[in-house]
Amino acid sequence: MVSFTTVVTAGLLASSSLALPHAHQKFHQKRSSSSSKRGAAYNDASLVSTLTSTGTVSWAYDWNDANDGTLPSGIEYVPMLWGSKMFDGWSSAVETALSSGSSYILGFNEPDMTSQADMSASDAATYYKQYITPYADRASLVTPAVTSSTDSGMGLEWMASFLEACTDCNATAMAVHWYGEAASDFKSFVEQAIETASNYSISSVWITEFGLSSGTDSEAASFIEEVVPWLDSQSAVGRYAYFYCADGYLCFFLLRLDGQRTRNFFLFHFLDLLDIPFPYPCMWWYTTT
Ligand SMILES: *[C@@H]1O[C@H](CO)[C@@H](O)[C@H](O)[C@H]1NC(C)=O
Ligand SMILES: *[C@@H]1O[C@H](CO)[C@@H](O)[C@H](O)[C@H]1NC(C)=O
Repeated sequence: MVSFTTVVTAGLLASSSLALPHAHQKFHQKRSSSSSKRGAAYNDASLVSTLTSTGTVSWAYDWNDANDGTLPSGIEYVPMLWGSKMFDGWSSAVETALSSGSSYILGFNEPDMTSQADMSASDAATYYKQYITPYADRASLVTPAVTSSTDSGMGLEWMASFLEACTDCNATAMAVHWYGEAASDFKSFVEQAIETASNYSISSVWITEFGLSSGTDSEAASFIEEVVPWLDSQSAVGRYAYFYCADGYLCFFLLRLDGQRTRNFFLFHFLDLLDIPFPYPCMWWYTTT
């Protein structure tokens, strides 16, 4: 179980490494041995720099086709064609991203959800071939990202229909999202996603959003502590991004649900007292795993 003391210490170590030679050394070790799978899902590019001192983040995306700011050097921006609302500006945006060094393209966001990209699997396959497949010789292509819903026609079932209709789409990785209650459920979902992908000759799965849908901060921390090394050890997991890199979402998104900083108040108050600059998004995750 991770205490607030651990959380605050992690923040301190990261920000005052010059004054703490041991910590400095430790983070250097992490940099060289860190996984390149880990990404930052962000809306505000300026927040991503708060994660990079540890060297554990290699890529970032913002559910968009442009990076909307400046990412730290060495972080690969991955453009996404979110859905039909972005078809118009797509070709010029993706050209800019590719010429700036992007080597992957992400497909539609949760097309299995009516509130998100909202597409049938067959429409999605048609649009994918029209807007994304043409870039297959310049980037590696990732499928749309589905939810973890097990409702009929959603989640991995939607994905299987899409892959069935999209065998000539040239996607080489499959993307999924997951929200739920337990690390064991997350792992079995990811294993099922890997099997679905493998059934269509896709050997890489990206988890581009994940997190617990309820629980305490320390439960979220334990969850992360358990699943991140597991994701790193899975050869079929290509990349992953915790939800998400934003102020107030340290490890947990209760704050989003109730709109207030109740849960993390103690932590933020502590950082403030110690004169540690805000924001510290996802700091626990990015500094201790
Ligand atoms: C997509 O894959 C097919 C079959 O491997 C290949 O012939 C085609 O050139 C690829 N498309 C692009 C745009 O690279
Ligand atoms: C993968 O294909 C096998 C053989 O057709 C099937 O039994 C299995 O259910 C499929 N797995 C998934 C997750 O769709």
